[in-house]
Amino acid sequence: MQQRYSLAAIILHWAIAALLAFQIAVGWALGSLGARGFALFQLHKSIGITVLLLTLLRIAVRWWKPRPAKLEGGWQGALASGVHVGLYAFMLGAPLTGWALVSTAKVKVPTLFFGVIPLPHLPLPMASHGLAEGGHSLLAWIGIALVALHVAGALRHHVMMRDGLIWRMVPGRSTALLIGLPALILVGFLLGRAILPGAAPVAPQAPAANAVEAEDVPAEDNAVEAASNASDNAAAPAANETAAVAEEPAGPPPAWMVQPGGKIGFSVGNSGETISGSFSKWTAKIVMDPDHPDSADIKVTIDMASASVGDAYKDGMLPGDEFFGSAAHPTATFLAKGAEKTGANAYRAHGTLTLKGVAKPQAIRFTLSGSGKTRKVSGSASIARLPFGVGNGDSSTGLDPKVTVTFNFDAKTQ
Ligand code: HEM
Ligand code: HEM
Repeated sequence: MQQRYSLAAIILHWAIAALLAFQIAVGWALGSLGARGFALFQLHKSIGITVLLLTLLRIAVRWWKPRPAKLEGGWQGALASGVHVGLYAFMLGAPLTGWALVSTAKVKVPTLFFGVIPLPHLPLPMASHGLAEGGHSLLAWIGIALVALHVAGALRHHVMMRDGLIWRMVPGRSTALLIGLPALILVGFLLGRAILPGAAPVAPQAPAANAVEAEDVPAEDNAVEAASNASDNAAAPAANETAAVAEEPAGPPPAWMVQPGGKIGFSVGNSGETISGSFSKWTAKIVMDPDHPDSADIKVTIDMASASVGDAYKDGMLPGDEFFGSAAHPTATFLAKGAEKTGANAYRAHGTLTLKGVAKPQAIRFTLSGSGKTRKVSGSASIARLPFGVGNGDSSTGLDPKVTVTFNFDAKTQ
């Protein structure tokens, strides 16, 4: 029976391999996440430092319990050893270049190791930032190439030479572990992809389900676009936006408190006149960094029974099944993750509107004015009421198919 690596060495080998795969999956996404990535940057840095510590432990274990004797000499044996040295260099180099790049960044974002222990910045000259950043990015590819060689070598021993070398890195002679341990690397990578914001399916901007919606979508976009451009009269230089997103965010995107006095109103044409009303009860939870609109996380909840058009007779009809069906569906919600900039202060968010129990993709437009900790928010949405079953009876024959919802309120952050 062949000698095997110590159990500690085996556990560390597979744990580090899986963590590295996770790091690469998350790392590749960091640059494009903007402010939404704050928590992921912290996680990437914490796990990276964990890999550094585990690798130091692994080197200590190797010293303490020397590895089993080499099975193969010659150039193949030398290549295997060379690749092992390269893999150790990758396991140490990736976290060290990552640490160096955050230590030399223009904006020094503190790292809290798993949210608890502050990680000091390495005393390195600022001029080394480019080198550290380039090295960090390149090392991932060098690591992938070395692992490919390493796995090819392991397979060569297993399939062609059948010398049982692979069992030296597997505890026991368990076939389940022989498959399960390398599979951990794939699990690590997939887990890294799965936790990225936006990896979860956001309400698809699917092609409209029926002809009415299909025609209506572009019309709505144009109409409101014109309105928002008119109110802004200056379009944002697109270059600003892309430049701003690549930096490591200094903090999580701020949460905004809606101030009393705001309004959500609606209006709809009815046989040539306009019926206008508003909702007196609604709440909005808004998280968004105006400079990184992709960070937006918006949830608006409207109490449908609070709708009024200022006419007792019509108000009496609104909660009924022909209109809002408020007894069965007391609230409507609008949820959006991420928004895009369409002008200097103008934004558009694609989300999901749930109204009368029906969920559909819905776009809203809004502008932000003011600066610092206070903003005036105003915007609108054009809602096709028929897919939601709003106005589905005899009294609705004269109602336009589109309802315009407008909102304006002040929002404050801490
Ligand atoms: C365990 C090892 C690590 C691996 C395998 C790894 C891998 C990666 C990869 C593949 C990227 C994307 C690079 C690109 O844009 O091409 C990345 C980005 C990044 N990593 Fe790591 N990383 C590790 C550890 C760390 C550590 C310890 C830190 C900081 C303490 C760190 C900080 C960063 C930062 C800030 C970025 C953002 C991209 C940039 O500004 O260039 N990483 N990482
Ligand atoms: C499916 C993937 C992998 C397989 C099948 C595998 C298999 C093995 C085997 C059988 C050995 C023992 C070689 C010998 O006794 O001569 C070994 C050693 C080693 N593996 Fe892996 N490995 C894999 C992935 C990785 C990854 C991702 C890394 C790190 C980036 C890594 C780093 C190492 C190192 C540094 C050694 C040398 C240990 C020492 O002697 O100090 N391996 N691997």
